[in-house]
Amino acid sequence: MPRVSERISAIMPAGKSGWEIHFHALARVQAGDDLLMVTAGDHDFDTPGETVEACVGALRTGHHHYSELGGREALRAAMARVSAQCTGVETSPAQVLATTGGQGALYAAVQASCDFGDHAIVVGPYYATYPGTFRAAGASFTVVDAPPETGFEPVAADIEAAVTPRTRAILINTPNNPTGAVYCSATLEAIADICRRHDLWLISDEVYWTHPGEAKHVSPRALAGMAERTLVVNSMSKSHGMTGWRVGWLTGPEDIVAPLVGLNLVTTYGLNDFVSHAAVEALDRGYGVDEITAVYSVRRKAFLDALGQSQGFAVHGSKGGIYVMLDVRAVSPSGETFAWDLLAAEKLAVMPGESFGEATAGHVRISLCQPEAVLGEAAVRLRRFVEKKLDG
Ligand SMILES: Cc1ncc(COP(=O)(O)O)c(C=O)c1O
Repeated sequence: MPRVSERISAIMPAGKSGWEIHFHALARVQAGDDLLMVTAGDHDFDTPGETVEACVGALRTGHHHYSELGGREALRAAMARVSAQCTGVETSPAQVLATTGGQGALYAAVQASCDFGDHAIVVGPYYATYPGTFRAAGASFTVVDAPPETGFEPVAADIEAAVTPRTRAILINTPNNPTGAVYCSATLEAIADICRRHDLWLISDEVYWTHPGEAKHVSPRALAGMAERTLVVNSMSKSHGMTGWRVGWLTGPEDIVAPLVGLNLVTTYGLNDFVSHAAVEALDRGYGVDEITAVYSVRRKAFLDALGQSQGFAVHGSKGGIYVMLDVRAVSPSGETFAWDLLAAEKLAVMPGESFGEATAGHVRISLCQPEAVLGEAAVRLRRFVEKKLDG
């Protein structure tokens, strides 16, 4: 076989993926073992029925053809309206590129901001695909971790210290996966200031913007001088219960979105026609959005209440998004050891914090994508396990 390009081989380096415990538990569940899993970030419920019906209707009425490369006109208009709500900045359809999920928007943002050999700063803890997305562009990156002590709010001075002459972009994510941190205005203003002074793009992943919990979602795009240098990653996956539909979008200045239509030309050739029709209706009518937001708010609060307080763990971040992050350093040398021991002792699978970078070492992530009864039982098992560890 001829050689595979280095760029493609580097996207997912060989070795540990961080998802070993998830796949181990999944295989056991599929073999009939009665484990509880709170690892993955996909909803335990289906897409709202109205959205499904809109898609079926579009299929029945002949929407089977190619659609516009940057997204159907009505879709870009609907996405622009939602972007205006998400970011607080008036948005035109020409400032929006429809993509295959939030991941497609991330890919587009990185491709458009970084040339081969450029450098970016990834604020951690981060979503698992970020490193590979920069590798796919041939760009290098430095991870700057937000520490648990600040509730995983990034420290601007640490970010600025990582800026090099080749730095082109900073990537942040609020509300955050995996920590549930919801960055405050002061943090975002400090990061925006770095971007303005060093003339950098700010890639702002806001796919959890409808899940701010009790906090307020602030988009850096709304800050002074930032609309011209912010690329907002958005998606219908987490807000509209549509993970498998693969609909997302990037919002940014028209001058970067226009050439990005060329990226859609050579990658996806545009979104599915019938899915696009359903997406317009779901965006315009907000199918499921309030209900899904409420589900996760109720689950977050109920889970944290059930967990209570203990000498054996501490909760950092966990204000929004769809995850809770537990610091278990008081009872275990690592999140990974804790997670495997917990699985053995209590038949409960959680994600080791090490899977998301250094800052969440010694932590475990609990996904709220399970019914309340399962989350309640998970809290009981976690607590029991920690108490036993404390008793020695
Ligand atoms: C922080 C973050 N960004 C982006 C994505 C990708 O979203 P999508 O599923 O729409 O591709 C996810 C998915 O879990 C995520 O957690």
